[in-house]
Amino acid sequence: MTHREAYANLLLPRLIAERGLSGRDAALTTELTYGTLRGQGTYDAVLAACSDRPLDKLDPPVLLVLRLGAHQLLNTRVGAYAAVATSVDLAKAVAGPRTSGYVNAVLRRVATRDLDAWLELLAPALPAARGQTAAEADTDDRLALRYSHPAWIVAAYRDALGEAADQELEAALAAGNARPRVTLAAFPGGRPREELMPAGAEPGRWSPYAFTLTSGDPSGLTASGAAAVQDEGSQLAAIALARAPRPTRAGDRPELWLDMCAGPGGKSRLLAGLAAPDGARLLAAEIHPHRAVLVQQNMARAASSAAVPPVYQVLVADGRVPPWRSRPDGEFDRVLLDVPCSGLGALRRRPEARWRKSAADIPALADLQRALLRSAVDVVRPGGVVAYVTCTPVPAETSDVVTDVVRGADDIEILDAPAVLPDVPELRSPNPLFAQLWPHRHGTDAIFIALLRRRAQ
Ligand SMILES: C[S@@+](CC[C@H](N)C(=O)[O-])C[C@H]1O[C@@H](n2cnc3c(N)ncnc32)[C@H](O)[C@@H]1O
Repeated sequence: MTHREAYANLLLPRLIAERGLSGRDAALTTELTYGTLRGQGTYDAVLAACSDRPLDKLDPPVLLVLRLGAHQLLNTRVGAYAAVATSVDLAKAVAGPRTSGYVNAVLRRVATRDLDAWLELLAPALPAARGQTAAEADTDDRLALRYSHPAWIVAAYRDALGEAADQELEAALAAGNARPRVTLAAFPGGRPREELMPAGAEPGRWSPYAFTLTSGDPSGLTASGAAAVQDEGSQLAAIALARAPRPTRAGDRPELWLDMCAGPGGKSRLLAGLAAPDGARLLAAEIHPHRAVLVQQNMARAASSAAVPPVYQVLVADGRVPPWRSRPDGEFDRVLLDVPCSGLGALRRRPEARWRKSAADIPALADLQRALLRSAVDVVRPGGVVAYVTCTPVPAETSDVVTDVVRGADDIEILDAPAVLPDVPELRSPNPLFAQLWPHRHGTDAIFIALLRRRAQ
């Protein structure tokens, strides 16, 4: 999974089905895979201390077996003897018999201490760097080791939390290692969530459409289109745009909404349901044709389940060079811009994501985000609103992008985004006009929401 660049959350369910695993076997397989991928940073540090060969010189399958073994030894209740013995067998199977002595020796050394003892032993050896104070670097490196996050992500989270970092950074990193409950959104205008919720499900805290499952498979609910899997933070982003105040004038036509980066269509689906009661229409645009097909499928399924009129149209388009009209009079009343981003706010869903991105990826993403936001503010009508949304909390992709674009546009004002979500606590940190959700505070992905309005003439 690692070296073929696959995504565990997509590939694993397929493999589990192919191998005919179910129940406890399927759950154990998932836990071992997710836990090993997430914990890789910590396990590699421990393995390096136990190996007489550099880890980067090992055959990739051997390294994977060692990580899986380390996870079992340090973070599960699997007994040490069984963890070492099954790892040795696995190493023989995937890398040949000559590796078994080495794997056995390394894992037996790992088994000599528990995780806390290893962290205690390894932390002081960490180098300080990155232009932080020595104390900060020391803290961040220890946190990177303990919570198995790359050091640059720890630093980015510290930045994003601002003054709250001293109190909350550790909790924010720990939340990235906890598996989220499955959250669904009932389709607005369809059967209310209370009717859809199976036994044991709980209503979401702030979105009137959200509910979470403690266990079980949501596919029965999603196949009908009555509900779809969607984080509550993502739901709140679409709700914030629909609720944003927009001055209306006598003779105004029904509103026209744009979802500018729509694939695969989760938020479009919710927006279409929110638009329909007021007669608003939604255009959903997506640059990649195969993702535009997913948007179309998602919308059609939801609309048919709720008998919603076809208020939407799906289009393949590059948001930076749009086929729709731009200034001077604009075209859209509300624009959702849910930009492509690093995804660092959804690490708990994608166990391998933290190892796939690097700090060097951020500037190019931020350039794309700025270009898309300039294009979005160009197509709103006077009085119209843009919601700029990311699933990362990193300032270079969130507040910095918004403030850069607004600085160059005299007629754009930043609205108070937390004010349209008055029930949701602790959104205002660090910038009071932007809403920042966090897994450790809200139990959602770390979704950022800024609302921008083009001043009415
Ligand atoms: C964060 S995802 C959007 C998720 C979506 N809002 C949802 O809730 O399902 C960003 C999407 O933007 C698309 N995209 C990237 N560059 C684009 C561009 N220049 N114009 C339009 N869409 C773009 C990506 O293919 C991706 O599907």
